[in-house]
Amino acid sequence: MLRTHTCGELDHKQIGKEVTLCGWVDSYRDHGGGLFVDLRDRYGITQVVFNPPDTSSQVIEESKLLRAEYVLQVTGRVAERPAGMANPKLATGEIELRVTRLILLNKSLTPVVSPNANSQDIPNEELRLEYRFLDLRRPTMQRTLFLRDRIVKEMRDYFAEHGFIDVETPVLGRSTPEGARDYLVPSRVSPGSFYALPQSPQLYKQILMVAGYDRYVQVARCFRDEDLRADRQPEFTQLDLEMSFVDAEDVIHVIDGLVARLARQELGLDVKLPLPQLTYDEAMERYGHDAPDLRFGLELVDCTDLAARSDFRVFSSVAAGGGRVRAINAKRGTEHYSRRGIDALTDYVGQFGAKGLAWFRVEQDGTLNSTIAKNFSADLLQEFAARLHAEPGDLLLFVADQWKVTCKALHALRTKLGAEMKLYDPQSMHFSWVVEFPMFDYDEEEQRWVAMHHPFTSPRDQDLKLLEADPARCRAKAYDLVINGYEAGGGTIRIHDPHIQQKVFSLLGIDEKVAEERFGFLLRALSYGAPPHGGIALGIDRVVMLFGGMDNIRDCIAFPKTQRATDMMTGAPSLVELKQLRELGIKVVVD
Ligand code: AMO
Ligand code: AMP
Repeated sequence: MLRTHTCGELDHKQIGKEVTLCGWVDSYRDHGGGLFVDLRDRYGITQVVFNPPDTSSQVIEESKLLRAEYVLQVTGRVAERPAGMANPKLATGEIELRVTRLILLNKSLTPVVSPNANSQDIPNEELRLEYRFLDLRRPTMQRTLFLRDRIVKEMRDYFAEHGFIDVETPVLGRSTPEGARDYLVPSRVSPGSFYALPQSPQLYKQILMVAGYDRYVQVARCFRDEDLRADRQPEFTQLDLEMSFVDAEDVIHVIDGLVARLARQELGLDVKLPLPQLTYDEAMERYGHDAPDLRFGLELVDCTDLAARSDFRVFSSVAAGGGRVRAINAKRGTEHYSRRGIDALTDYVGQFGAKGLAWFRVEQDGTLNSTIAKNFSADLLQEFAARLHAEPGDLLLFVADQWKVTCKALHALRTKLGAEMKLYDPQSMHFSWVVEFPMFDYDEEEQRWVAMHHPFTSPRDQDLKLLEADPARCRAKAYDLVINGYEAGGGTIRIHDPHIQQKVFSLLGIDEKVAEERFGFLLRALSYGAPPHGGIALGIDRVVMLFGGMDNIRDCIAFPKTQRATDMMTGAPSLVELKQLRELGIKVVVD
């Protein structure tokens, strides 16, 4: 080793000892007579002093050439800092190293991204990603990657203790059914044929259940070519698992235990188990979203029946036309939102399809006041007030539209109100489940049913008869783990009966030939004694983001892609040699 200790290790116990440290120059201060350097490594920072009489004048001269991010090896004696100079915020704050020997191990160009920059001085993300080797030196980034490491290790330990076997599944495979666009890899040996990178190990893990492995787990890389957002990357990591002879509650129970363990270890939180569960229908009715943020209230309230009796055309016509009039009571919202503020909220919900935002302020005497109040009788207004538990100072906000639009707009509004009115502690965590999702969603554009999760999801036993009679009402054995308004994981109990699988395929418009072509191997496996089985996958990047109190998964991934799916550091994706394309039988046409 080139060092005897790390930069985070020395304290008063080593005073008087001779030690050698290696690290990067985090900062340096020239004090005329000598130089003070903060030497940094992964473990911490140690103050290193080049001063007479300990340091020779030759070494002091050499030290004056040191610059930020130079790499040093320094030997010297550990000494107590002079009176009044101790830094209690630093683990090594009581001591300093009085240097006798300096070896410059390497120089650095002036760092483009400064590892010790204050949060307001951090350069833009593109530059940070281009110079990721510097960005990753920042203590915040290091803390996040260590958090990620601990979370993944805890997951692995937990599942090993619960009898799960870790099995690796292929990355070069066939298209998997998660519904995003595939990343394709051309085959050189079979020109014109392509592998698809897995969107998840879904089919392989089901086959492992057929093969009798009973409990499978994997930290699996997944690839999806979809529109990117702050919580979506083209390649991301799942904690993927599958279990045999289980129902939904068994899978939920296993994840409940994991969540409690992670929360205790990382946050010092005692999470009460079982985690609360909402059905999908309840979640949509009360929050307008299938992954609601339950750290605050502001529930949606249906007022369609009252709206139908008003003379306000916007309300009565929507109610008469089968739409819904739903509202949020922004408690004490009149303190936060002036007329201008309400106009901004109206513009905001407009982005989510709402045609307007009707509002009432609740006056001190309890009456409802608004430019539209004249369209309502005093009695009807009082019924609205009672329905919404209105109190003086409240702001009542309404969207009238088709059900889907009211969900989207009011969910967005609720989220915005919660943040702007500071209704929750941003550091707090809330874990819950949303269960019993619909089996199918109707794709208006394509005029057909699509699987809400994936086509191997089992309907609830009591809904089997609805498969053909009323697919819209058919509910699935599906469950999503929700943390602070994010979908952190999703899973289902699978269909293990080939006849039901066939029925679901035909509902989804997947005919026998296509089913055989795409999933023949799975259907075959299901016909050879498939046990009842189910599982789930958690998005590890999202879990780390949420446990680390961040709002962007790029900050939890060592080498992430930008919103345009490029790697700024390596320049991937990039053009390739013509020769490579020729070998693959590929001609590129760019129009
Ligand atoms: P699903 O598609 O719901 O289920 O994915 C599971 C979890 O993976 C995370 N996730 C993502 N994270 C980052 N970037 C992405 N692009 C991305 N897409 C998904 C989410 C999500 O909850 N095979 C099924 C699981 C199962 O049924 O067992 C599946 O992949 O946190
Ligand atoms: P208008 O009659 O269009 O001037 O709208 C009167 C008020 O009703 C305004 O505050 C609009 O924002 C609101 N409004 C219009 N359409 C809707 C709607 N579909 N849902 C809720 N409020 C609406």
